[in-house]
Parts: sequence; structure tokens; C-alpha cells
Amino acid sequence: MSAVDAVALLSGHRVMPVYTPGGVDEAVSTARALLAGGVGAIEVTLRTEVAMDAIAAIAREVPGMKVGAGTVLDPAQMRQAQAAGATFAVSPGSSPELLRAAVDLGIAYLPGVATGSEVMAALAAGHRLLKVFPAQAINALELIQAWRGPFGHARFCPTGGIDATLAREYLRQPNVACLGGSWLTPADALRTGDWARIEGLAREAVALSGA
Ligand code: 3PG
Repeated sequence: MSAVDAVALLSGHRVMPVYTPGGVDEAVSTARALLAGGVGAIEVTLRTEVAMDAIAAIAREVPGMKVGAGTVLDPAQMRQAQAAGATFAVSPGSSPELLRAAVDLGIAYLPGVATGSEVMAALAAGHRLLKVFPAQAINALELIQAWRGPFGHARFCPTGGIDATLAREYLRQPNVACLGGSWLTPADALRTGDWARIEGLAREAVALSGA
């Protein structure tokens, strides 16, 4: 069995909102606003009680939006997220169990990496779209440039501390397939239900990615 190709699954989705849901209705409205702004993939972090229900609701009610689970820390969460409708999973790091579970479950997987050894472990397990986390804290721009030589086959999705300004520089790198960030779903916009603002941020993100 080989790993599902996350590069192909997320092709064309260059900016990935990292969204922590506060409620199911909020999640559906957020996904609709992002999609209206041209963003067609979302990472819903498993950091709140409602996260699995939020994934299920987006999968059911927002056709056209690819929904993935983020902050996946163990294989059980990966399995539950897939059952809820997630088509991809993302982790801030990785473990041998997670690398294997993704292949066994047939779900696209972006393990988190911060070192060359972690890149090697992920590639050996068949995963080649890798979340570089926490991007700004580890100077991911230079890391990703340096990894072009030894890991030519790998594609990266830097996340952590990236905003619209930094995004432009990352997206110029030929081995950056996508990047993630929470700036597209600001807490105050979620609190006040300012979907127009989220749609506008999505539109700007799509424009800067040239996607
Ligand atoms: C993540 O889990 O990917 C990060 O918390 C997102 O990072 P950001 O909030 O700095 O964009």
C-alpha cells in the first residue's frame, strides 16, 4: 500500500487557512466565506470539543470545500477525522504510528517537520507534502531553500507565524506547494460573524499566491 499523494490532492490550494472552530454553525459560515473568496481547502484543528462535528458539517454542507483535520496527535484522531469527512490530516510533528496510520487508512497526510531527519522519516513512509512547523520560529524560509538540494522530491507547507506579507516570500520558493496560517480567520471576525471580512482575506490570499 502506498501513501495518498497530498501534493495532488491539494494542488492549486496554495494558502491553507488554519481554523480552530468555536461552533458548528460558525464553521459552516467560515468555510462558505472562505470558499466565496476563492479558498477551496481548510485545515480544521482538533483543538476544541466541536472540531469533529465542525469537520462533518463542512464536509456535508459546503460542497467544493476540501476539509482536513489539523493538530492530529494520534492515529485514533486521524481515524475519527476521516470518518467525519476529512480528506487530509495535518500534524505539528509526526510519529512512526501516524506515518503508518495515514497509509493504512488511505488518507492524505502532512506530517510536521523541523529537521532533516524528520523529512527523511516522512519521505521513507511515502509522504512528500510536509508541514514545516513552527515556520517563523525555525527560520523555515532558509531551511526550505537548503532542503531543495537533498530533498528534491519533497514539497513543503510552512505554517506558524506567517501572515499575508511573509506568505508572498514563501510562495516564491519552488518547493513550497502551499502554506498555512490562522490570519485568514481572525478571532474578532469569528466573534462578530464578519463573514465579509473573512471572504475578503481569502480573496487577498488567493491573489497573492497567484493561484
Ligand atoms: C498551526 O497549528 O498550524 C499554527 O498554530 C498556525 O500558526 P499561526 O496561528 O501562526 O498561523
